[in-house]
Amino acid sequence: MENEIQARAAHLAGIREKAEAEMARMGIDAAFIDRLVETFYGRVQAHPRLGPVFDGRLAGRWPDHMEKMKRFWSSVAFKNGAYGGKPVQAHLGVQNMTPELFPQWLELFSQTLTEIAPGKAAHDWFMATAERIAKSLFPQAQVRYQAVTSQNRMPLVQNGTVDLECGSTSNTASRKEQVDFANTTYITEARYAVKKSAGIESTEQLAGRTIVTTTGTTLVPRLRKLERDGLKFNLIMAKDHAESMLMVAQGRADAFAMDDNTLAGNIAMLKNPQDFRIVGTPLGREPIALMLRRNDAAFKQAVDAEISRLIQSGELRAMYDKWFMSPIAPANVNLNLPFPPSLETAFAQPNSDPAEAYAMP
Ligand code: HEM
Repeated sequence: MENEIQARAAHLAGIREKAEAEMARMGIDAAFIDRLVETFYGRVQAHPRLGPVFDGRLAGRWPDHMEKMKRFWSSVAFKNGAYGGKPVQAHLGVQNMTPELFPQWLELFSQTLTEIAPGKAAHDWFMATAERIAKSLFPQAQVRYQAVTSQNRMPLVQNGTVDLECGSTSNTASRKEQVDFANTTYITEARYAVKKSAGIESTEQLAGRTIVTTTGTTLVPRLRKLERDGLKFNLIMAKDHAESMLMVAQGRADAFAMDDNTLAGNIAMLKNPQDFRIVGTPLGREPIALMLRRNDAAFKQAVDAEISRLIQSGELRAMYDKWFMSPIAPANVNLNLPFPPSLETAFAQPNSDPAEAYAMP
């Protein structure tokens, strides 16, 4: 046992000596590492984009960070075990850490080395090492966008062209036979858009009235079921959502039945959105989720972990308020769609249950 420990210590000492000799050949010593860290992070603080991101996290802790980074680079260069932290965890949740910052970090590091490194070999060694570590720290740094349609979105996910599809895609049991879904991020509730002046506040008050919906949508069977369940009304079809909405605006129908987010969008496009509201017991609910390939548990887990982080930090709720409860460019339209209680439940217990698991009211 003692021999083993001695042998291991000798092995480590050997690695360290070799590293020191390699660094010495390039002119890198402890004093240079101190100077590099101080100069580089001095410039980071003054950098218009990187400065605020670092400051946001390190305000009041800069001296500690400098010491830590000296130990980190000393450990990487001289293999002396001076640093024993967890850099991947340390970077998680750094606010506003967007992918385009990495090239800027590397560029600034390279400029600093060009000015103060003892030679080209030292510059190249630090850059190659930083790039390698950056890749392992931030493997997600590359994002490419690709537009999809309702027709091609599933095939493109299935054939691997697209890793993650973000649209108003419902998670359904039949789709799940071909693709997978991340945890639910929105739940549509099918309800009714009415004129405020009509005095309609509940589904029951639609008895004897005219309801319009858009032909070919899942609302048609849902309304037929409502009829079978005993509510008598006159059902008419319009060719698209805009026409359905117009029928209510012009008084040719009393209510437009559709998913609440579609209703909110169509109300917002009217000249007088404040004259309309969305009412009634939901006719049905459908979970909306990011679509991803099937049988890739590690990828699904990574996506779900990020969604959970966004829920816990409140960022997802802030995104909701930004897009659904505030004016949005270019027309400064406010959809005014309050956060649905059913989504509150889904956020409290994240899951990727399909629409079939949502009981029809
Ligand atoms: C856009 C690029 C980067 C940004 C914005 C960034 C930001 C930060 C911030 C804010 C911290 C402090 C975390 C805390 O103590 O709460 C930190 C720590 C650290 N960073 Fe970075 N970083 C970047 C790139 C890099 C790269 C490329 C490396 C390695 C070559 C690196 C290595 C480290 C290490 C070792 C720590 C200390 C982790 C610990 O607490 O043990 N960072 N970084």
